[in-house]
Amino acid sequence: MSVYPIAVNRLRIVDVLDVVRESPIVRTFVFHDRLCGRAVPGQFVMVWVPGVDEVPMSLSGIGSDGVCSISVGLVGEATEAIHRLERGNCFGIRGPFGRGFSFGRRKVMIVGGGTGLAPLAALTDKLVDAKADVTFLFGAKTKDELLFHDRIGKVPSREVSGVAATEDGSYGFQGLITEVAEGMLKKEKFDMVYACGPEQMMYKMFLLAEKHNIPIEVSLERLMRCAIGLCGSCVIGKYRACKDGPVFSGEQLREVKDEFGRFKRDFDGSRITV
Ligand SMILES: Cc1cc2nc3c(=O)[nH]c(=O)nc-3n(C[C@H](O)[C@H](O)[C@H](O)COP(=O)(O)OP(=O)(O)OC[C@H]3O[C@@H](n4cnc5c(N)ncnc54)[C@H](O)[C@@H]3O)c2cc1C
Ligand code: FES
Repeated sequence: MSVYPIAVNRLRIVDVLDVVRESPIVRTFVFHDRLCGRAVPGQFVMVWVPGVDEVPMSLSGIGSDGVCSISVGLVGEATEAIHRLERGNCFGIRGPFGRGFSFGRRKVMIVGGGTGLAPLAALTDKLVDAKADVTFLFGAKTKDELLFHDRIGKVPSREVSGVAATEDGSYGFQGLITEVAEGMLKKEKFDMVYACGPEQMMYKMFLLAEKHNIPIEVSLERLMRCAIGLCGSCVIGKYRACKDGPVFSGEQLREVKDEFGRFKRDFDGSRITV
C-alpha cells in the first residue's frame, strides 16, 4: 500500500454521513476519509468511541472519492455505542491497517457469514470492477441475518451470482453455506476462494480448498489493540494478525494450523476456543 504508515496511524475524527439498517443487529455507518478511500478490501480501521473503547472494524465500502463505510454487529459495549451514533455525530478512526485480499484471479468463489460479509462486500465491488467471474455464497442462521444480499444481488453484472443458505431454512438452501460450497467445488473449477466469517466456517473452507487444490485467502479475527504490530495481542503462530493479516493465504494457514480453527488469545493471553 502506498499510504505513508504514520499518517495511517494518526487518529482522525469523521462525521457519520449516513446510517443503514442492514439487519436487526447490523448497521452500516458511512463516513468520508481520504486514507480509507485508498484502502485494499480486507483492511480494517480502529474505531474509537470516546469514553468507551477502540475496536477493529473491516471496511465494508471503499470509495476512491473517500466515501467509505463500516458495518457493525451489535455485540457489547463498544458496538452498542457505535449503534447509538446518528447522521451528523462523529467518531474516531485510525487506519486502514493490515494486509487485504489479493486480486488477479478470474473465476472466484466468495464465502461469507455474519459480519464477516463486511470485507467481502468491499472485495466484490473491486472484483466486479476488474470483471472477475464471482460466485458469492452467503450464510446466516436466519433470513433476517443475511447481510448485503440485496447489495450484491443487485450488482448490474452478469458476472456475479449469489447463493444463500440459512440454518433454519427461512431463505435459500437449508443448512450451512459450506455444504453449498462443497457441492459446487465438486462440479466447478475455481481459481480462488475467499472466506470471512465464523472461524469454523473458514477452517472448513480451508480444508475444502486444500482438497481441491485451490488457493484460498481468509480474514481472521484476533484481539487487536495497537493495530501496528507492537503489543502482540493479535498473535497467531509466528504472525501478528494486525500487520501480517488479517487476510492470510492457504500457505500461511498451514503454518499456523495448531491455532487456526482451534483457539485464539483473550485479553490476558489465555486461550479461547474458536
Ligand atoms: C480485523 C477485524 C475486523 C473486524 N471487522 C468487523 C466488522 O466489519 N464488523 C463487526 O461487526 N465486527 C468486526 N470485528 C469484530 C469487532 O471488533 C468486535 O465485535 C468488537 O470489538 C466487539 O466489541 P464490544 O465492545 O462491542 O464487545 P465486547 O463485549 O467488548 O467483546 C465481545 C467480543 O468481541 C471481541 N472483541 C472485543 N474487543 C476486541 C478487540 N479489540 N479486537 C478484536 N476483537 C475484540 C472479542 O471476541 C470479545 O469476546 C472485527 C474484528 C477484527 C479483529
Ligand atoms: S494489535 Fe498489537 S500487535 Fe497486533
